[in-house]
Amino acid sequence: MELRTALEQRRMIRSFDGTPVDVTNLEELCAQALRAPSAGNSAGVYFIVGGVDRVHEYIEVATDPTWRERSRRIDGLARAGGVVLVASDPATYLSRYAAADKVSSGLSDRAAWQVPYWHTDAAMATMALLLLLEEEALQATLWGNFRHDEAVKEWAGIPPTWELFGTVLLGRGDGADHRSASLDRTTPTRAQRVLRVR
Ligand SMILES: Cc1cc2nc3c(=O)[nH]c(=O)nc-3n(C[C@H](O)[C@H](O)[C@H](O)COP(=O)(O)O)c2cc1C
Repeated sequence: MELRTALEQRRMIRSFDGTPVDVTNLEELCAQALRAPSAGNSAGVYFIVGGVDRVHEYIEVATDPTWRERSRRIDGLARAGGVVLVASDPATYLSRYAAADKVSSGLSDRAAWQVPYWHTDAAMATMALLLLLEEEALQATLWGNFRHDEAVKEWAGIPPTWELFGTVLLGRGDGADHRSASLDRTTPTRAQRVLRVR
């Protein structure tokens, strides 16, 4: 598959058909995705992989009963064939940027980071994974991390000092998606969001 096709074709899918993903293959794809750039070659991003048998548990811990009762999407999401948590270890970045060749950056102090590179690296690796999934004819949705992250980390065995970036639910789409309201927003076009230095 052409890279441009993968990029154009990728959409967040929130209704899956229940086909289990091959966990070994998924782990290989995750390892490939970690070829993404990493600040200072810190390599502090981790993918934590679960197969189809972990999807229900994940949804249970990552959402609350009120949300599950009200959500139109819960059934389709619960038919995901696997789950990948994306997490990073900030301490890896702090110690990397305290090393002799980086210490002049001032970034050995956590408060100094205008952009926490551990999240930047996590985003880069996540996008690489989404493109690799597309190439494998799999589909996915990314859930950002804005609630229940401590419970999710504990459930997945992620050390408390690591930070959760987000979660990829993946599998084969069943075509029964409820269209996201986000897609109906009027936004500047992509071309309008490419600016020239003045
Ligand atoms: C950081 C981030 C967080 C997101 N969080 C969620 C989420 O919690 N739930 C969800 O359904 N989609 C989530 N999305 C998916 C976006 O809604 C989606 O990418 C956007 O509407 C554009 O649609 P497309 O990816 O299909 O092109 C998230 C995307 C990003 C990049």
